[in-house]
Amino acid sequence: MVGSIPQPAFYIFKCQQSAPPGMPKPSCVSQNDPESQQLFQHLAQSLMMKGIIGTVQPVQTGCLNRCQQGPVMLVEPGHTMYVGLTKEKIDRIIEEHIIGGNVVQEYVIPEEMWGEPISPSAMAR
Ligand code: FES
Repeated sequence: MVGSIPQPAFYIFKCQQSAPPGMPKPSCVSQNDPESQQLFQHLAQSLMMKGIIGTVQPVQTGCLNRCQQGPVMLVEPGHTMYVGLTKEKIDRIIEEHIIGGNVVQEYVIPEEMWGEPISPSAMAR
């Protein structure tokens, strides 16, 4: 529609879950790993510096259920789960996937951890 407010081209859901100190369970943000605490800010700043924050919306979210692979973030549309993130990996994802349109396969979750979804209509009682 002419004159309408454009919807975002992408949402990037960054898991910001932090396990309490002493918890053996891994989490995407860790008190012992300063870089893990800076990744969301790095993501938002990089989008801003590229001038694309208006059309790419970073969202802080809770656990996305792939904690062993953390830090993780989910790119929508596309349902692309990126794992083992660092600042450098986020920069490359912005450059190659978000701007360039090519998923960075090296950083995508292994297939055995990300099988085809079960349709809710098949699961519903
Ligand atoms: S803590 Fe990030 S996926 Fe669970």
